[in-house]
Amino acid sequence: MHFNKAITVVGSLALASIVTAAPVEKRGSVFYGDRTHHLKEYQANQGNPAPSSTGAPPSPSSPASSQGSNPFKFPLSNGFPNIQNPSAALTQIEQQAHGLLPNGPPPPSPPAADDLTSLRLIAFNELFEVAYFTELLANVTNNVAGYQFQDANLQATIVEALTAVVAQEELHLLNANGALAHFNAGPIQPCLYNAPVDNFQDAIALASTFTDVVLGTLGDVQVHFGQNGDAGLIRGVAAVIGQEGEQNGFYRQILGEIPSAAPFLTASAREFAFTALQNFVVPGSCPNANTIALPIFGALTLETPKVQAQDQQLQFSFQATGQYSQYASGQGLSLVYINQQNVPVVLPIQGAQNNGGTVTFSANFPFSENLMFGLTIAAVTSNAGPFADVDAVAKATLFGPALIEVQ
Ligand SMILES: *[C@@H]1O[C@H](CO)[C@@H](O)[C@H](O)[C@H]1NC(C)=O
Repeated sequence: MHFNKAITVVGSLALASIVTAAPVEKRGSVFYGDRTHHLKEYQANQGNPAPSSTGAPPSPSSPASSQGSNPFKFPLSNGFPNIQNPSAALTQIEQQAHGLLPNGPPPPSPPAADDLTSLRLIAFNELFEVAYFTELLANVTNNVAGYQFQDANLQATIVEALTAVVAQEELHLLNANGALAHFNAGPIQPCLYNAPVDNFQDAIALASTFTDVVLGTLGDVQVHFGQNGDAGLIRGVAAVIGQEGEQNGFYRQILGEIPSAAPFLTASAREFAFTALQNFVVPGSCPNANTIALPIFGALTLETPKVQAQDQQLQFSFQATGQYSQYASGQGLSLVYINQQNVPVVLPIQGAQNNGGTVTFSANFPFSENLMFGLTIAAVTSNAGPFADVDAVAKATLFGPALIEVQ
């Protein structure tokens, strides 16, 4: 029975049942550090074929690199992302995804150029998600160190869920790229990808965080569709928002959090998603990401390791070098927090320290006044606003997003 199974899952999802002795910590931030070590380990594990009793997950082709790093590389063994419609490969993906690629006709007239930008961003994101969840599924299936389970039932539950997620993300990509192809607008080609995690807990926490960013960003995409007169594209995006929300409830439960983070999830903007995704792609490896007409902001790093559900000072840093050297004093800049559907909170940056081009500063995190649960997007802006919404913040952003998660 489903009900009994659900109870079992809830009971056994406690992270203690994961074999790894990694300390169980609440995530507070996402770090994108040096991956050399992780890549070596991943490479060392590439020899293990995937033994799977619950259906064969697509496995990445084994990329050979003379540089000694081993980023994730497409195509998958099923040929993805090069899948014909119709084809036996598509049918198999649909079976694993528990549903079809939308089979209605596309809108009669081409979307606005700005909405093609949104479709390209969606494709760019979905390609990364397929890469990420394919690698995660392979790690769990192959009992890679850091991804091992004492409880075989729990492992099977995770494998079953991720097998569907991988196929569902593949269909999200095929839907976006299919629309781009239909309108002769240049489908997005895959990059090489690196996941900055090496254990199940961190991998799920990162999945939850980037899913939060996607959830907010798809709302922004819908706003653009509405403004540009492309209402015919809105319903399909709404269906993906709900779908990714369902995924995130599962990830949050694995992390020991309540499934639904907040009454209204955090708004994002396309520019923030595009910038954040750069952390996962190998620089220079994207064949046509330059066709995505969105800016990439300077990096804003949250230096505070764990952000608690309370008022506190947070530490941030950015690099004021090259094109950004004029911002080395921090003078006149503001820090902006975007949380849920509330008016962005703007704080002047004070007491910034410049150490050889690395600018550090601290800022109050006004948690209790604003109940800033879930995702908060932080950005450094060139002026103090006031900003009506996340789009206004993105227009003034120099550095960001820093992603803060509070449970
Ligand atoms: C899979 O495991 C390898 C080896 O630890 C790691 O480098 C990689 O980032 C992991 N990927 C995911 C998505 O967890």
